[in-house]
Amino acid sequence: MSKPKRYLITSALPYANGPIHIGHLAGVYVPADIYVRYLRSKGEDVIFIGGSDEHGVPITIKARKEGVKPQDIVDKYHAIIKKSFEDFGISFDIYSRTTSAIHHKTASDFFRKLYDNNRFIEKTSEQYYDEEAHQFLADRYITGICPHCGNENAYGDQCEKCGSTLSPMELKNPRSAISGNTPALRETSHWYLPLNEYEDFFKEWILQNHKEWKHNVYGQCKSWIDLGLQPRAVSRDLGWGVPVPVEGAQGKVLYVWFDAPIGYISNTIELLPDRWEKYWKDEETKLVHFIGKDNIVFHCIVFPAMLKAHGEYILPDNVPANEFLNLEGDKLSTSRNWAVWLHEYIEEFEDKQDVLRYVLCANAPETKDNDFTWKDFQTRNNSELVAVLGNFVNRALVLTAKYFDNKVPPINKTTDCDNEIIGQISEIKYNIEESIETYRFREALKETMNLARLGNKYLADTEPWKLAKTDMERVSTILAVSLQICANLTIAIEPFMPFTAQKLLKMLNASQYKWSSFGKIDLLKTGNNLGKAELLFDKIEDDVITRQIQKLEATKKSNAVDNCKPNVLKPNITFDDFAKTDIRTGTVTDCRKVPKSDKLLQFTINDGTGQRTILSGIAQYYPSPETLIGTQVCFVANFEPRKILGIMSEGMILSAEDTDGKLVLIQPSRKVQNGTAIG
Ligand code: MF3
Ligand code: ZN
Repeated sequence: MSKPKRYLITSALPYANGPIHIGHLAGVYVPADIYVRYLRSKGEDVIFIGGSDEHGVPITIKARKEGVKPQDIVDKYHAIIKKSFEDFGISFDIYSRTTSAIHHKTASDFFRKLYDNNRFIEKTSEQYYDEEAHQFLADRYITGICPHCGNENAYGDQCEKCGSTLSPMELKNPRSAISGNTPALRETSHWYLPLNEYEDFFKEWILQNHKEWKHNVYGQCKSWIDLGLQPRAVSRDLGWGVPVPVEGAQGKVLYVWFDAPIGYISNTIELLPDRWEKYWKDEETKLVHFIGKDNIVFHCIVFPAMLKAHGEYILPDNVPANEFLNLEGDKLSTSRNWAVWLHEYIEEFEDKQDVLRYVLCANAPETKDNDFTWKDFQTRNNSELVAVLGNFVNRALVLTAKYFDNKVPPINKTTDCDNEIIGQISEIKYNIEESIETYRFREALKETMNLARLGNKYLADTEPWKLAKTDMERVSTILAVSLQICANLTIAIEPFMPFTAQKLLKMLNASQYKWSSFGKIDLLKTGNNLGKAELLFDKIEDDVITRQIQKLEATKKSNAVDNCKPNVLKPNITFDDFAKTDIRTGTVTDCRKVPKSDKLLQFTINDGTGQRTILSGIAQYYPSPETLIGTQVCFVANFEPRKILGIMSEGMILSAEDTDGKLVLIQPSRKVQNGTAIG
């Protein structure tokens, strides 16, 4: 698009059912905040919209578990999340919530307009209903046996054991999570947004006109479009959410993914009741959604289709979604408490918000999933922030205090060396601009640090402390140039490390500069007094890091103990029940990893009568499967054969789960005949 007149920047509304962690910050909020701070510094007209997503089934489940109302849950976490964002300097112009009255009205009106304009189709289908609780059951409220792996506690939308996406109808022995009863099927009708009708539009708008979107985003959109878009239900039978504004729709609410993105609009209305439309309805506004990769389809397909169906709104110019951040090699998980929580970090690392912002940006999962480790956190702090940025600033200020009574000295004659350095400041500026404007924040941060590196190199090359005895005129120029680099640094680092920028400005006794001043070397006036030199960053010692790692190890242990619930015995069975299971021994004649699977090993077993293939999910614990060849295992021989990843598995190999969750094969203590019955 040609130069926009104004910017509307949104960042995904986090669910208010738990606090937020480093994954949220790295994936969404730090990049969004960098972008917005940069635009503000450039003097652009920009608003930054945030808020909590307070509807949806998981919130009702949590409330039920804790015996409170959904509103209590969202009140609690909205406050915690909002505070974390403030603590970390995420500079929203508004942080509101989807339970607000304005939002309910906006979302309701939006739905009604689409409804009145016949943009929905209404369909009746059968869904599970709990006759005791008198309600339809959301997917998450139904548990049962996973058809793929046999997990007995799979949810109606997903099996957490094998990761398959499910629909409630696929579960065997479905049960209601509310009453424990077997649910009944009942007819219910819902409204659907016919995404299929927008296929041509998406082909043109995304596949042709937005080839510049990030590969991961474009690729995901392309595969959705190629698979063919389907109508999507936009209402649910649930008592928590925005009521469907249609007569006779009692007990139905808008699907959370329908109402939540409208929250961006509601929050803009709340922020600018008189001017909000300019931001949402004028083609000269550039709308950018910052999100994580699990939100791509909603922001690139579903929400744009809603906006288009409505007819008055602009569409996003870009959706720079990030991949995921892992923690010490494992997926971040709220339920397993595998996270670095922001509210805990801020207590344990007081005043070090910028260190985390820095590390999360330097290591952001921009193009692939990335790993946060405490060791890397320490290294980046000590050898980049302390040794490069902090060190340069400190040297410039301390030397000025020493030789020039803490006043900015004049720039006298400049040499080629000075001019070369001065020229490079502008070059770095352009590099940063180009990177930020194309959403490459890691690269932008690297360039920013190059400015500090440049300063360090300049001091190391010119060695003003040696010249002080002979050539004070030269020392004056060198320190003046160095201080001007410090002033430029306050501009460069502000989007990334706003707290540090303020600290540095105070030390320079200056007030915030605009981006347009970046590159100048007369930012600080000659003769001005500087403030007191303090360290911008402190070294982080090993014991601090060790403590964090130990904390995570403790979490791992307690998760493992939770996983192994040794005391819950199953109900008694008769001998006949047991005798139904045909357990036998066999010798492994071949064993290899199943391609495209991290978990599965493919065993070929001599079962005494011939060879059979059995898949087993133990690959992680047997990294060299070929060493199992020749050993004996025990297997259930009459386990219903089933196809997994295209391979027919004929049986189940027995293994035990250790307290730390590791699986270990059960093997006879001495060789026996293949096919021997176990019992
Ligand atoms: N709450 C969703 C999540 O955390 C994101 C909602 S973004 C919005 O995945 F656009 F719907 F608001
Ligand atoms: Zn499963």
